[in-house]
Amino acid sequence: MQVAYVAALVALLTVSASAQPFLPGTGFAPLAGIAARMNYTDRDIVEFLTNVECLEGLFDTWGTFGHGFNNNLTLGGPTPIGARKANLSDQVQSHMEEIALNEQGHALFTRQAGSSLPCPQVDFTGGFNQWYAAAYNLSKGQTIESVFGAPFDPFASDENYLLSVLSLEELGATGNKGLTLLTSNPVIADGIAGLATSATAHATVERMLLWERRNNTVTPFNETVQQVFARVSAMRDTLDGPQLDDQGLVNTDPRTIAVPLYYPNMIPTDVRGLTFSRTPQQVINIAVLGNPSGTGVFFPNGLVGNITKPTGYDVLASGLDSFPASGARVVSQESTQAVGPLPNPVLLPNVTGELDLTQSLAGPLDNGTASTRGYSTVPPGVPNYTNGSQVAVAYPLPSSSGSSSVASGGRRLFF
Ligand SMILES: *[C@@H]1O[C@H](CO)[C@@H](O)[C@H](O)[C@H]1NC(C)=O
Ligand SMILES: *[C@@H]1O[C@H](CO)[C@@H](O)[C@H](O)[C@H]1NC(C)=O
Ligand SMILES: *[C@@H]1O[C@H](CO)[C@@H](O)[C@H](O)[C@H]1NC(C)=O
Ligand SMILES: *[C@@H]1O[C@H](CO)[C@@H](O)[C@H](O)[C@H]1NC(C)=O
Ligand SMILES: *[C@@H]1O[C@H](CO)[C@@H](O)[C@H](O)[C@H]1NC(C)=O
Ligand SMILES: *[C@@H]1O[C@H](CO)[C@@H](O)[C@H](O)[C@H]1NC(C)=O
Ligand SMILES: *[C@@H]1O[C@H](CO)[C@@H](O)[C@H](O)[C@H]1NC(C)=O
Ligand SMILES: *[C@@H]1O[C@H](CO)[C@@H](O)[C@H](O)[C@H]1NC(C)=O
Ligand SMILES: *[C@@H]1O[C@H](CO)[C@@H](O)[C@H](O)[C@H]1NC(C)=O
Ligand SMILES: *[C@@H]1O[C@H](CO)[C@@H](O)[C@H](O)[C@H]1NC(C)=O
Ligand SMILES: *[C@@H]1O[C@H](CO)[C@@H](O)[C@H](O)[C@H]1NC(C)=O
Repeated sequence: MQVAYVAALVALLTVSASAQPFLPGTGFAPLAGIAARMNYTDRDIVEFLTNVECLEGLFDTWGTFGHGFNNNLTLGGPTPIGARKANLSDQVQSHMEEIALNEQGHALFTRQAGSSLPCPQVDFTGGFNQWYAAAYNLSKGQTIESVFGAPFDPFASDENYLLSVLSLEELGATGNKGLTLLTSNPVIADGIAGLATSATAHATVERMLLWERRNNTVTPFNETVQQVFARVSAMRDTLDGPQLDDQGLVNTDPRTIAVPLYYPNMIPTDVRGLTFSRTPQQVINIAVLGNPSGTGVFFPNGLVGNITKPTGYDVLASGLDSFPASGARVVSQESTQAVGPLPNPVLLPNVTGELDLTQSLAGPLDNGTASTRGYSTVPPGVPNYTNGSQVAVAYPLPSSSGSSSVASGGRRLFF
């Protein structure tokens, strides 16, 4: 059983990370990105998660509730730049409240699993303006404001907020899934699997809410939601190496699970129906738009912990050399009860779970109606349906024979 498992893994890992059409009977579909077991400690992994969960959780909590985490979750980390309550319809507000509380729970998990590093400084204003500027292929020196007449406000509307939430959500969904392979403690691995499945469920809700609004125009781009998100997805895909692991609100690429043109693509997967994984380095490379120092965009001072750079993870070389040799773990066959207490639990400082999770509901709750918040439906914009599933983006996909490392296989923008 173990031998067969390892043999299957070796076969999987031997497949090039480049994207190839899947032909029945010819082997495995390409493994997207994740391949190696790096020798990170579980603490390194959990501290890396603090960056991701603070970024996502603070964005969702601020936009949804108008305040951030309590100090037991930030551990003294600073208020994000540009944070405020988002202007949301009742429908989006109700879904985002569940999602934001889930994200607070994710931050709580990183604390209970041992991360005692404060949340890093995150920047929503500069971060999202650089993010969409890159998605629109603006050149260095140009800004959203200089090209479109106004900066992008991620909190301005359902459309702007959901596009921005989903931009980050799918970094968490793919990045967390990629981490399950790298942990040595099955309890931590099981927890991280819970983060990944939860984030994927959030992303599906956000995709559905965006799908319902797909024809609405996005300010200040004057393009539809579907077009803007296609740009975001394509940009993310260019920043993490040659494999195809990102999809828009529609997907007709036959190398994946494709649906007819203009049908919704709620659950991006490969042709096996598996959700995608990203390495920590791929996540960082996307979040900082390829800056090799690992700083800028959403993280003006960089990430906290030991995993802070978009380089240093040689997917193919270290994976083939070290993964089977260091012992495959079949963690899913062990219950957390069977595993028992964590060998070296780090539970400082103590957190009060229920209070953390419900803090947002204890404060002043905005229970006004849509009309008291000035919401009115806007007429749909003018969508371009001639090529709804694909958009031209800044950088062509690298050739499939490119390097395996994120540093050279991924794209760099601005730097
Ligand atoms: C693992 O750590 C050792 C020393 O701590 C280092 O020399 C080695 O390069 C690391 N391996 C990988 C794959 O990062
Ligand atoms: C979007 O526009 C297309 C094309 O006109 C139309 O078929 C679809 O029903 C519209 N969807 C929504 C949610 O407005
Ligand atoms: C937005 O786009 C539509 C269709 O392309 C166009 O008719 C309209 O003039 C544009 N509006 C602005 C403010 O650019
Ligand atoms: C990794 O993090 C731990 C604890 O935060 C620290 O003690 C250690 O020096 C770090 N290792 C490296 C290589 O930075
Ligand atoms: C955390 O809680 C445990 C059990 O109640 C207690 O022994 C420990 O001293 C607490 N640690 C801190 C830092 O308060
Ligand atoms: C935060 O943690 C402290 C102990 O470190 C505890 O006294 C306090 O109740 C906690 N606050 C919340 C809101 O959980
Ligand atoms: C929310 O509703 C409750 C009771 O319906 C009311 O007492 C409270 O003032 C409302 N809060 C806001 C912010 O409108
Ligand atoms: C809130 O969003 C609605 C609908 O998109 C919009 O009409 C309104 O101007 C926005 N209000 C503010 C204060 O941004
Ligand atoms: C719609 O998209 C097609 C193909 O990308 C492009 O050639 C055309 O100019 C676009 N039309 C408008 C009105 O933007
Ligand atoms: C649709 O987009 C693809 C990829 O960018 C391009 O090859 C194709 O020519 C486009 N089709 C139209 C009708 O513009
Ligand atoms: C992106 O911008 C560069 C110049 O800054 C240009 O060479 C390239 O063609 C652009 N790509 C697209 C798809 O417009």
